Amino acid sequence: MQKQEKTVCQWNWISRKVKGVDMCETKDVLILAIESSCDETAAAVIKNGREVLSNIISSQIDIHKLYGGVVPEIASRKHIEKINQVIEEALKEAETTLDDIDAVGVTYGPGLVGALLVGVAEAKAIAYAKNIPLIGVHHIEGHISANYIENKDLEPPFSCLVVSGGHTHLVRVKGYGEYEILGRTRDDAAGEAFDKVARAVGLGYPGGPKIEKLSKEGNPYAIAFPKARIADSPYDFSFSGVKSAVLNYINGCQMKGEPYNQADIAASFQKAVIDVLIENAMHAADEFGMDKFAIAGGVASNSTLRNAMKEACEKKGIRFFYPSPVYCTDNAAMIGVAAYYEYRKGTRHGWDLNAVPNLKLGER
Ligand code: KG4
Ligand code: ZN
Repeated sequence: MQKQEKTVCQWNWISRKVKGVDMCETKDVLILAIESSCDETAAAVIKNGREVLSNIISSQIDIHKLYGGVVPEIASRKHIEKINQVIEEALKEAETTLDDIDAVGVTYGPGLVGALLVGVAEAKAIAYAKNIPLIGVHHIEGHISANYIENKDLEPPFSCLVVSGGHTHLVRVKGYGEYEILGRTRDDAAGEAFDKVARAVGLGYPGGPKIEKLSKEGNPYAIAFPKARIADSPYDFSFSGVKSAVLNYINGCQMKGEPYNQADIAASFQKAVIDVLIENAMHAADEFGMDKFAIAGGVASNSTLRNAMKEACEKKGIRFFYPSPVYCTDNAAMIGVAAYYEYRKGTRHGWDLNAVPNLKLGER
């Protein structure tokens, strides 16, 4: 144990008062994390906030793709069927048991209310039975925290572009769990636009990976789809216009009986979305003088976006961070990382923790 001047300990140290004096000690902290906000039932065990001992994801995509998108009621039922098995697997792979777990972290919003409730109820039951802390985590905080897993030296402050199926946020990460939202989408999220365009082109759900694959065979300069700018708010986004433009383009071709090139549509659409994401992010970088920039969320697994953002950051001398694809799309490891930092800050939720489908970032 080490005496500290301040109560802030290194990231793998825990502060404790001994005879009224703040001390730091190295004690491994194991977090069991649960994520069930959409169509992935996931559990993970995280050691000291940055080491993933296990990360189990049971995807429901095969069921939902039959309907062209996530069916909330089916998602909730499938979570109930799978959650115990997924947690058991996560503990087994981490070679641990519930007796070794120090706290349970769980996504409690935003997301589908029925889906969230399954994870929240499970987390409460485990925390109550084992008499350990319960920590509710914001899903977006989880996505941002995914960057800490493989980038051990990444510490706040930094900026992060969160691009998922439900969110497009440009965030200033001021400290662990401290966020300032610089910009957000005014309508569709980036991933939602990928999904809707994929459906229109006949690619099916989930659209993002399919558009990315098809884009590689197309010309991104073939069709000039619109790139929306919000006049009074340079860091906000809007993707409903580009989505409608794609639908109109396809309709126009069909009405004239003209063939259209699916790959060119995919590549041109993807370019329009990525260009706006990068322009807004770099504009914010200039304005706020950023030296570290990260991306997160399902769309962040898009290699064209990653490469273009990396290049844009390098040009400005900004260090660029991104998680591996498995930590970009929904997973519980990222929730465990966020829960660890909340745990260290003393965040504890009560047994009345509820699912909050429209939870705002920074709210408790
Ligand atoms: O983060 P995520 O797994 O779930 C939400 O929190 O929404 O993101 C899912 C979204 C979907 O819209 C999916 O189409 C998109 O991420 N996505 C991608 C790619 N992989 C997933 N979008 C573009 N390119 C990809 N490679
Ligand atoms: Zn997500």
